[in-house]
Amino acid sequence: MHPLQCVLRAQRCLQRGPLASVSWLLLRTCRAHSSIPSSACPSPERPQEDGVGKDFSSRLATGPTFQDFLRSALVPPEKPSSSEMEDPPPYLTADELLGRQRRVYLETYGCQMNVNDTEIAWSILEKSGYLRTNSLQEADVILLVTCSIREKAEQTIWNRLHQLKSLKSKRLRSRVPLRIGILGCMAERLKEEILNREKMVDILAGPDAYRDLPRLLAVAESGQQAANVLLSLDETYADVMPVQTSPSATSAFVSIMRGCDNMCSYCIVPFTRGRERSRPIASILEEVRKLSEQGLKEVTLLGQNVNSFRDNSEVQFNSAVSTNLSRGFSTNYKAKQGGLRFAHLLDQVSRIDPEMRIRFTSPHPKDFPDEVLQLIHERDNICKQIHLPAQSGSSRVLEAMRRGYSREAYVKLIQHIRECIPGVSLSSDFIAGFCGETEEDHLQTVSLLREVQYNIGFLFAYSMRQKTRAYHRLKDDIPEEVKLRRLEELITVFREEATKANKSFVGCTQLVLVEGPSKRSATDLCGRNDGNLKVIFPDVEVEDVTDSGLRVRAQPGDYVLVKITSASSQTLKGHVLRKTTLKDSTAYC
Ligand code: 5AD
Ligand code: SF4
Repeated sequence: MHPLQCVLRAQRCLQRGPLASVSWLLLRTCRAHSSIPSSACPSPERPQEDGVGKDFSSRLATGPTFQDFLRSALVPPEKPSSSEMEDPPPYLTADELLGRQRRVYLETYGCQMNVNDTEIAWSILEKSGYLRTNSLQEADVILLVTCSIREKAEQTIWNRLHQLKSLKSKRLRSRVPLRIGILGCMAERLKEEILNREKMVDILAGPDAYRDLPRLLAVAESGQQAANVLLSLDETYADVMPVQTSPSATSAFVSIMRGCDNMCSYCIVPFTRGRERSRPIASILEEVRKLSEQGLKEVTLLGQNVNSFRDNSEVQFNSAVSTNLSRGFSTNYKAKQGGLRFAHLLDQVSRIDPEMRIRFTSPHPKDFPDEVLQLIHERDNICKQIHLPAQSGSSRVLEAMRRGYSREAYVKLIQHIRECIPGVSLSSDFIAGFCGETEEDHLQTVSLLREVQYNIGFLFAYSMRQKTRAYHRLKDDIPEEVKLRRLEELITVFREEATKANKSFVGCTQLVLVEGPSKRSATDLCGRNDGNLKVIFPDVEVEDVTDSGLRVRAQPGDYVLVKITSASSQTLKGHVLRKTTLKDSTAYC
């Protein structure tokens, strides 16, 4: 990106985005030009010099003139597409923006959004001429896609950076020195703290800055640190189709929206991933169609708040129709209107390929209007599985968390969902030891776990995050050992209840999508039922789907019927009956 674009973008963002990150970007932009002598400002039209590094600093020193800034200011820059990114800024040559066969090693931490971000980053770098490697030793560039959601997640990255330090120092004198980059939430949250603390980090790219990776790496080639942590109001990487890395994969994640406007008081995500924005439906459908053509059998629609999806890109749908929330739920933000909503997207996506399972994660309980529940019930290929993050079973704590619902409203929603979608599989997230949580509050969470009997659960001890509302307004007053003890108790109760819930499958026949060999036993296969529970069964010859009497071994991507014989809190076991199709078979008891 032209440095001026940074400035202009930063100015646009000053009106909307978090001030701290923007002023920091301006600071870094200025720093990159701090050595500009006022008299030495050659026109950018002068021929670009070739060569890496050796003359880079002098070219930086003779950056664009003030006139260039004014000239570009007359035409506000459009958001660059990936092809526009290939236009070099004045201080780089086109050649320097290319990867020139440098090998990139990508390492992903945290949630599925980060896995998806890794593929977006890779897709952008691959187009720029980088190669990918799975070997750390072979890498010229190491990029860590990071997570900030809890303190522990960040500590893991700091530890990893220490390990990488020695690798980098060994390579200092080599022809191509090793470059290290921090991508994603931690880059966004800590910004210059990372560059200052770890001099060995060369580049930082926030979650909305991956298109800028070729430029950041080109600047790093000269030995300078480079960063872009600007958050965007509209970046969805809609045109960057993530690269499907494993050819045998049966399922894929498709990003449908980014960011979050909910501002739950404990959560750093709105600060690291920015405002909520949805990807235009047309590009989502195109990606799902391509995945179906490649033979994939399962798509998970991905986002921080998938069911708040709202595609406002087509003007004719931007009516003033107000949003239907789940009954008894409210938002922390001003009501939004118009646009194409999640029910519409789900309907369209599920029509593409009746043999393709559709899942979505992660939703917020507030956005489950009846039309979404009805569609999940009616459409065979939309999995009857809903993640409904409760976070706490105490209305008092839920209020402190600013979740926008009470325990009673949440329980009513669960009852309503179970009425609308009989047999639905439910999962949830819970936080133990949030600010001010009493023993009584904790017991309310225990009782919610017992009452709902989730099939799958994700439980965490509260980890205070700077910038959040809880950090500013509440006290992280639950001692660590109490948090951990409460967490243990929640885990124990969750497991007991999940075991009971999963045992109800014993004797039933489940439709399972085969993923591959079981990790624990070479003679077993592993797959997932509609509710997303892992199902293990012996890898034996079975009758084929055609009823021809032919016997075949099930392969990844096949649907099979499995009779369940035992269940634990996490897994179902059984024996395979036959190969089948999604259309022709439903699970039964
Ligand atoms: N501490 C502990 N857990 C958290 N989560 C989000 N922020 C925090 C925090 N500060 C959990 C929530 C959320 C899940 C993705 O991570 O349960 O749903
Ligand atoms: Fe964080 Fe709440 Fe947004 Fe989930 S809904 S990402 S918990 S702020």
